[in-house]
Order: sequence, then C-alpha cells, then structure tokens
Amino acid sequence: MTLRENSRVLVTGGTGFLGAALVRALVISGHQVRILDNNLRGKPRRLGDVQSDVELIEADIRDSDAVADACRDIDTVAHLAFINGTETFYSRPGLVLDVGVRGMLAILDGCAKHNVGSLMLMSSSEVYQRAHLVPTPEDVPLVIPDPRNPRFSYGGAKAISELLALHGHGYRPASVRIVRPHNVYGPDMGFKHVIPQLSMRIAELGENHQAGDVIPLPIRGDGRQTRAFVHVDDFTAGLLLVMERGEDSGIYHIGTREEVTIADLAHRIAAGLGHDVTLVPSELPEGETDRRCPDIGKLEALGYRPQRTLADGVTEVAGWYRDNRHLNAQTEGDLS
Ligand SMILES: NC(=O)c1ccc[n+]([C@@H]2O[C@H](COP(=O)([O-])OP(=O)(O)OC[C@H]3O[C@@H](n4cnc5c(N)ncnc54)[C@H](O)[C@@H]3O)[C@@H](O)[C@H]2O)c1
Repeated sequence: MTLRENSRVLVTGGTGFLGAALVRALVISGHQVRILDNNLRGKPRRLGDVQSDVELIEADIRDSDAVADACRDIDTVAHLAFINGTETFYSRPGLVLDVGVRGMLAILDGCAKHNVGSLMLMSSSEVYQRAHLVPTPEDVPLVIPDPRNPRFSYGGAKAISELLALHGHGYRPASVRIVRPHNVYGPDMGFKHVIPQLSMRIAELGENHQAGDVIPLPIRGDGRQTRAFVHVDDFTAGLLLVMERGEDSGIYHIGTREEVTIADLAHRIAAGLGHDVTLVPSELPEGETDRRCPDIGKLEALGYRPQRTLADGVTEVAGWYRDNRHLNAQTEGDLS
C-alpha cells in the first residue's frame, strides 16, 4: 500500500526538524496529518502556517496507550520520534535505547490495534558506523563495532527498530519502508550538530575580530573526516517519493553524492558569514566515523534529483544560526 491521495498520516516526531518538514509537505499535498511528539526537542514553530491544519498530540512515544490512540483511523504511520544528537548518544545511551526500542514496539502495537496498513521508519546512516564501501549502498552490513562504547546506542537502537519494523511484533503492516538519511541540514535543525555549531562559533568569534583577520577556529578532529550533506528541501522531496513509490520492505538512502571534508565545510561556512578562518584541530571522541557518503542510486531510480548545492544551502543556514543564536539556550529539551 502506498501513500494515496488524501491519506490520513500519523507523523511521530512531527515537531522535530525532519518531522515538521514532512508534515508541511504532506499538508500541502492534501493529506490529513496527526502529530505525536513530546516536544522534548520538537518545536511547534517549525510547522509555520500549517500548524492550524494538523492535530497535535503531546505524548511520549513510549506511552503505549497514547500511541495506540494516535493510530486510530490512520492509513500510514511515519515514525521519526527518536533521541537524536551525537552528544546524547555518549551521555544518555540508556535513554536513546529506551525511546528507540520501546517507541518502536508501541508503534507496532498501535498499528496492530487499528489495522494500520503502511509504516515508514526513519532509520539512519549510523547503522553502518564505519562502512567498508564509500559511496555506501543500502546492502552493506549493519555493524556495532563495540557494544561497550555508548556511541553505538543510537545505531543499535536504529538497527533493532529496522528488524522490528520489517518482521513485526505480532502484527506487521502490509507495507513497510525504511529510510536511512545521510546528514540532513537546514534552518532550525537543532543546535547540537556540526553546521549549527560551526556557524555559531564563527559568528561569535567574528564579532571579536577586525575585517580581514584570519580567525583561529577550534574544530573536532583534524578536519579530514568527510560527510555528504543534503538540504532539508531535497530530503523531504526524496522522502515523499519513498512513501509514494517505494517498494514493500524497501530500504532507501536519502542524501547527496557531494562528499566534503569537515575542513572544507568550515571554510565554506566562514566564507558564507564573510570571515576567513584557520583551523585548530583537537581529539575526536572514540567511535567517530571517518568517511560517510551514500550511494543514492535506488532513490534516483524512483525519480529523485537533489536541487540544492552545499555552496548555496550552507550560506543560508549559517546566516540563520548567526541570527538566531539567542534560541540556543532555550532550545534543547531537558533529558533528565
Ligand atoms: N537530521 C538528520 O540528519 C538525521 C540523520 C539520520 C537519521 N535521522 C533520524 O530522523 C528522525 C528525525 O530527526 P531530526 O533531525 O528531525 O531530530 P529531532 O530531534 O529534531 O526530531 C526528533 C523528534 O522526536 C521527538 N521525541 C524525542 N523523544 C521523544 C519521546 N520520548 N516521545 C515523543 N517524541 C519524542 C523530539 O521532541 C523531536 O521532535 C530521527 O528518527 C533521527 O534519528 C535524522
């Protein structure tokens, strides 16, 4: 079963960065949308002018009664609620696993109770950790290099969620699709990610330097690690393609082939903000991945063509973080 016209869609994590972008796209395409989010990291402001068109349930994804109620009269569940953010994987691995696994079980039980026919699970490129093949296709093995490292709580919880989604928990929706995003960026994406942090740091340092100065910029690692960043507009277009045309049990990467080093990224952000920087390297925490870039051939076969280049997108996003730094302190929910 695919996303048909006028579907009723439950988006968990729907006030989060990617969830809100999906909600807006679904409403604009004429679907009826219900959101379940505890607003720990979610912000209803991200829904913009579609806020009054959606039903918003504030609840924890581990609350099985609330999740079952949210699944009533729903055709498709898009499951995005999860604890995101690298710092949290290290500091609160138990919470990451709890929300990931119990949330997935609650969704499957809710789908069973209300006979929901279609499920899209948002997984992650982190299921590969250090993929031996780059660009990485969807069929390379999922890996937990060391279960003692808390970093892998997130990739582990995503891998368990994938298994549960594909094989069910007593019940399995007739159609299941899995998406593995690769480093999505955009305005209001949260504050604990590399592009926001570099943007805010450069903007702050820039205020204490004269025009023309070369600013020393501390970075994590030596800057040689690579990532491929996809703009949220392209990501959302790809996600809708998977939900509309993806095959049952299909696993799809969403990203771009534009692989850049973190050093290059830092220089582009600095240039976008009108500054020049020299990088000051530091130690990387154990478990960081050196290279990440997806093979997106499967999604391209569905018609996906990303439009935004990093050069153009990163300037917009760096400017957003320079101008909205004041939101940082109040923005990330308390995880206690
Ligand atoms: N942003 C990326 O580049 C990226 C990459 C790979 C995977 N993902 C996955 O995509 C999904 C969305 O990510 P995002 O970037 O929008 O992150 P986000 O933190 O903005 O969104 C996650 C949402 O889940 C909600 N949430 C967290 N715990 C909850 C709970 N216990 N009950 C109910 N809601 C809860 C948060 O409030 C938030 O709104 C996540 O599953 C994430 O793991 C994102």
